[in-house]
Amino acid sequence: MSLTHYRTLGRSGLVVSPLALGTMTFGPGAWNADDATARAVFDAYRDAGGNFIDTADIYSGGGSEALVGRFIKETGARDELVLATKFGFNGAASPLTATQAGGGNPNAGGAGAKNIHRALDASLRRLGTDYIDLYWMHIWDGVTPAEELVETLGALVRAGKIRYYAFSDMPAWLAMKAATIAAARGIPGPIAMQVEYSLVARDVEAEHVPAARDAGMGVQPWSPLAGGFLSGKYRRGDTAGTGRLSGANPFGDSKFADRNWDVLDVVKTIAAEVGCTPAQVALAWTMAKPGVTAPLIGARNVEQLTGNLAAASLTLDHEQMARLDEVSAPPPGFSAGLASLTIRRMVFGNRDVRGWGE
Ligand SMILES: NC(=O)c1ccc[n+]([C@@H]2O[C@H](COP(=O)([O-])OP(=O)(O)OC[C@H]3O[C@@H](n4cnc5c(N)ncnc54)[C@H](OP(=O)(O)O)[C@@H]3O)[C@@H](O)[C@H]2O)c1
Repeated sequence: MSLTHYRTLGRSGLVVSPLALGTMTFGPGAWNADDATARAVFDAYRDAGGNFIDTADIYSGGGSEALVGRFIKETGARDELVLATKFGFNGAASPLTATQAGGGNPNAGGAGAKNIHRALDASLRRLGTDYIDLYWMHIWDGVTPAEELVETLGALVRAGKIRYYAFSDMPAWLAMKAATIAAARGIPGPIAMQVEYSLVARDVEAEHVPAARDAGMGVQPWSPLAGGFLSGKYRRGDTAGTGRLSGANPFGDSKFADRNWDVLDVVKTIAAEVGCTPAQVALAWTMAKPGVTAPLIGARNVEQLTGNLAAASLTLDHEQMARLDEVSAPPPGFSAGLASLTIRRMVFGNRDVRGWGE
């Protein structure tokens, strides 16, 4: 498989590469590429056939969008690209930036109609375009009703300012409710979910992935390398000065849990057997999981990017997938337990019954 083995994102007509380029590393920031390197990463991704670019208004205080907009203008690539950006965070309170306008204004963040229109206009300006292909709610604010979300975003699709919309970092029930309301009211609905999903973050398999598959939403994993942990470059007990996860950082809880090191050991063993990098094994696993359309690649330089893109041509065999699944299996929670084979047999008189699409 290569980046030109396109697929649709969810049940939609939006055609995307199997790996998307994340640009959280573009623009000013301690963990980011300088502008020339960001341009080289952008070019390398496009040269490999990639068409799916992901940014957000919050990344580098709008600096990522500004750079992406500049690169698109310089390369004349707008028509060829699926350009995705996000709204939702209030710049003044984010660890990723403290420079975006709107500090102290609650309506300069969140999923309410007032913020969505404000954020979209600002993103269009920075990106130098008059439409967004895929507009993500970056994070659910916990208060805006699904009805308002669907009406606001559906109207923007109809107005042509965005082509599609989708949800990142939200409860599965909210995405399903929005999809159901949209279908019932005959307005455009969400086409994808963007969620943290990797060999060391599999919580979304319990609720999000089944909901996405049922509602025709593509799953787009973020941090498929757990912020670089699954590249294998960190060593147990010696994680200083290695990369983004070294020392204090805003990228969530420590990835350096005992359990995660055990997962990494198996990733490295399989990489040695196959003759590839641990990062490629981790990405190939994510790409092969049910429901996944196009994981987001994050890269600080061209070497990381090209190494990671090679995962598109790696297919792990059944036995390798099973070993990875086993060592990384999340503790069985309530929802996953309901879907177990044991329960199915109890329900169907000790018979094996497969459902539609299984
Ligand atoms: N929706 C959301 O809430 C959300 C959240 C996070 C990210 N995202 C999106 O997802 C994209 C990817 O996320 P991510 O950057 O966290 O992905 P990731 O692939 O888990 O981590 C990428 C980082 O790992 C390191 N790395 C990557 N490849 C490597 C390699 N081959 N060898 C060694 N180190 C390597 C680099 O950091 P260092 O070199 O600095 O160590 C790189 O910046 C972002 O750009 C953004 O578009 C979305």
